[in-house]
Amino acid sequence: MTNQRVKIADGKLGIMVVGLGAVTSTFMTGVFMVRKGLAKPIGSMIEYDKIRVGKGSEKQYLSYREIVPITELKDIVFGAWDVYPVDAYRSAMYAEVLKEKDIEPVKDELAAIVPMKAAFDKNFAKRLDGDNVMEGKTRWEMVEQLRDDIRTFKQKNGCARIVVAWAASTEIYVPYNESVHGSLSALESAMKADDKEHIAPSMCYAYAALSEGAPFIMGAPNTTVDIPAMWELAEKTKMPITGKDFKTGQTLVKSGFAPIIGTRCLGLSGWFSTNILGNRDGLVLDEPDNFRTKEVSKLSTLESILVPKQQPDLYTDYCHKVRINYYPPRNDNKEGWDNIDIFGWMGYPMQIKINFLCRDSILAAPPLLDLCLLSDLAARAGRYGIQRFLSFYLKSPMHDYTKGEVPVNHLFQQYVMLKNAIREMGGYEADEEID
Ligand SMILES: NC(=O)c1ccc[n+]([C@@H]2O[C@H](COP(=O)([O-])OP(=O)(O)OC[C@H]3O[C@@H](n4cnc5c(N)ncnc54)[C@H](O)[C@@H]3O)[C@@H](O)[C@H]2O)c1
Repeated sequence: MTNQRVKIADGKLGIMVVGLGAVTSTFMTGVFMVRKGLAKPIGSMIEYDKIRVGKGSEKQYLSYREIVPITELKDIVFGAWDVYPVDAYRSAMYAEVLKEKDIEPVKDELAAIVPMKAAFDKNFAKRLDGDNVMEGKTRWEMVEQLRDDIRTFKQKNGCARIVVAWAASTEIYVPYNESVHGSLSALESAMKADDKEHIAPSMCYAYAALSEGAPFIMGAPNTTVDIPAMWELAEKTKMPITGKDFKTGQTLVKSGFAPIIGTRCLGLSGWFSTNILGNRDGLVLDEPDNFRTKEVSKLSTLESILVPKQQPDLYTDYCHKVRINYYPPRNDNKEGWDNIDIFGWMGYPMQIKINFLCRDSILAAPPLLDLCLLSDLAARAGRYGIQRFLSFYLKSPMHDYTKGEVPVNHLFQQYVMLKNAIREMGGYEADEEID
């Protein structure tokens, strides 16, 4: 029972990714391997999750594709931009996330993905020094070049639709500035005036994508689309925007574990999270200005789950700290530790320790796939602006703070929002039951 209001996924979908590093090359390799039947898309909700529709004797559990028309993996075409002129095959080999045996069978497909020149400004990521960049362009000229890149890619590859996703390095923190980011006209004026301080390169990509009728996803913690100017552009172009920061390892655990403490009405006096990470992402985040962007994103998770105002006895003044340490020997195999200081009956203290030995890009690839396909679905369903139903996949979910909205960080509330949006787009009734 597919809702007729959602356009079917006819033709090819171009997924254009900003940044062809560890996450992107792992994602692309996986999609190609799955297409050849040589790997399984583990971790993708679209490929594995089932949603109940109907109730009582009417109930049935259907996959996302049985409920709504989602683009098939065979219909995806990839493109990318990067600061380094390295194709997707060499990028996957360099990243050392996947074994050679899992890359070689799709070497030709990967080698054909050569990154276009990046809209880049070294002041936003000092540790990077690649030369595959647009030279001497103003911010507005970057936008124009990117728009041209998108149009050319779409035409050359015969794509019916495009999605643009940022999986590039974390930029330095760009705080909200009302006079530049508060409205679309102000943003455009600042781009035309080449305001290099307040206009991050990532904003040029987002602006170009939305203007070309492509949904935009922010996978890093950059504040790029977290500003009213971009919301206005998304409304104007009727395109979905989603962000920010893929929820993959430590924050996934946090947003799933904090509800245990909250539901059981235990107190929290502190939560200390630290990580060691040795890939290029870790190198960029070793720069304090870039880490600041990640820190703001990672810190935002707890406050809306364990809310001091609602439970002053349990959650007032807890100490929440997040650290990331660049440690090359571990490369992409990040290790995260969480020390949680809780208290129970009569205030007696207890501790919980969580040690997650994860693989960063292995965790990030399926959310990137799902976010691209679900953003494309949302556009075909006529949904535009901030896509709160995708909060499930994000560390610091977008919300309209100018209207007093708060983000939803609680993993299981996010899951209900995700399922209900799919149900509604499929013409079924939304409901609140967790099953
Ligand atoms: N892996 C995870 O679990 C995870 C979770 C959340 C967020 N992220 C974010 O995803 C992003 C990608 O992570 P990664 O491990 O693939 O990093 P990476 O360093 O391997 O790849 C990022 C690539 O982006 C390129 N780049 C930087 N600025 C660019 C620009 N302006 N235009 C085009 N390309 C640009 C870099 O040259 C690099 O090749 C990072 O911002 C990271 O913080 C990752």
